[in-house]
Amino acid sequence: MSRTVTVALGDRSYPILIEAGVLARAATHLAPLARGRRMAIVTDEHVRGHLATLQASLDAAGIASEAIVLPPGEKTKSWAQLESLCDRLLDLGIERGDHVVALGGGVIGDLVGFACAILKRGCGFVQVPTTLLAQVDSSVGGKTAINTRAGKNLIGAFHQPSLVLIDPDVLDTLPAREMRAGYAEVVKYGLIDDPDFFAWCESHGAALLAGDAAAREYAIGHAVAAKARIVAADEHETNGIRALLNLGHTFGHALEAETGYSQALLHGEGVAAGCALAFAFSAAQGLCSATDADRVAGHFRAVGLPDGLAAAGIPAAGATLVAHMRHDKKMAAGTLPFLLARGIGQTYLDKTVDLAAVERFLDAQTR
Ligand code: GLY
Repeated sequence: MSRTVTVALGDRSYPILIEAGVLARAATHLAPLARGRRMAIVTDEHVRGHLATLQASLDAAGIASEAIVLPPGEKTKSWAQLESLCDRLLDLGIERGDHVVALGGGVIGDLVGFACAILKRGCGFVQVPTTLLAQVDSSVGGKTAINTRAGKNLIGAFHQPSLVLIDPDVLDTLPAREMRAGYAEVVKYGLIDDPDFFAWCESHGAALLAGDAAAREYAIGHAVAAKARIVAADEHETNGIRALLNLGHTFGHALEAETGYSQALLHGEGVAAGCALAFAFSAAQGLCSATDADRVAGHFRAVGLPDGLAAAGIPAAGATLVAHMRHDKKMAAGTLPFLLARGIGQTYLDKTVDLAAVERFLDAQTR
């Protein structure tokens, strides 16, 4: 099965191709962007196998390529790695009209995208995401960034790729925990505005995570189409539509900050716990039914994702977590916008949330 989704952004529109096995045929799609020149591929040490597949495809098509292999992990999204990557791309003679291939998860996509946003004031890039999280979220929509000592993703730019190539088969070698963490971002699309898709997740999520290829492809296509719609409606997150994608992230980032953005809690695990908390908080405020909040937590629990503070390994310490929230980059004029819900598929942005109420709610959490 092959599906193409377009991100409709006028003259910056681009296709996202979702096709099992496409990595081995990547040259077909990359050749027009290579323009007969050598292509740079940036990747990390964890995906050397996928790099070999991609380079074999380019070799067979007579396209020369040069691989830059970076260390894996969040620390790679740094000023130091950005500087060294830009220098290496300049040494390779990358021109404005060239395209750099980002082969990897969110870290590689964010770093390479940002390097390409600033290299010669902007060159092209192609996203070839190799984790579920990157396939359904970070590779689409042009958010690029590095981290600084003040926090995550604080230096970056909106810079859209020219093409996204998604090969669901590369997920066969993704560790189960990372797969589950990426799945939280899939469920998020149902929670935002698509209750039927959430119901689909309840019925098919376990099979997807057990390796059901048809379920996996369907979910990726559905999630990517939802993200493409949202990005086309609000590319720069200015009218409240794209902000919906932050569901679960305000609570989730506080949990990630508390665990030092470490392996103790992966980003997707923070998003799962964060979505469950956003629904539980909405229920506690009388905005949505306890049944819906329980359904959300129940699904995350059923697939082995954290459904709240205890499952995320965090003691209910409201003041500590709210202190982390106060450092959120979305904080403006003393107010923090929250994504709350009136029900499953009825998420909305609320700028009137009282952080003292959030603190009391977190202190009362038992799950
Ligand atoms: N990952 C959220 C966004 O792309 O807006």
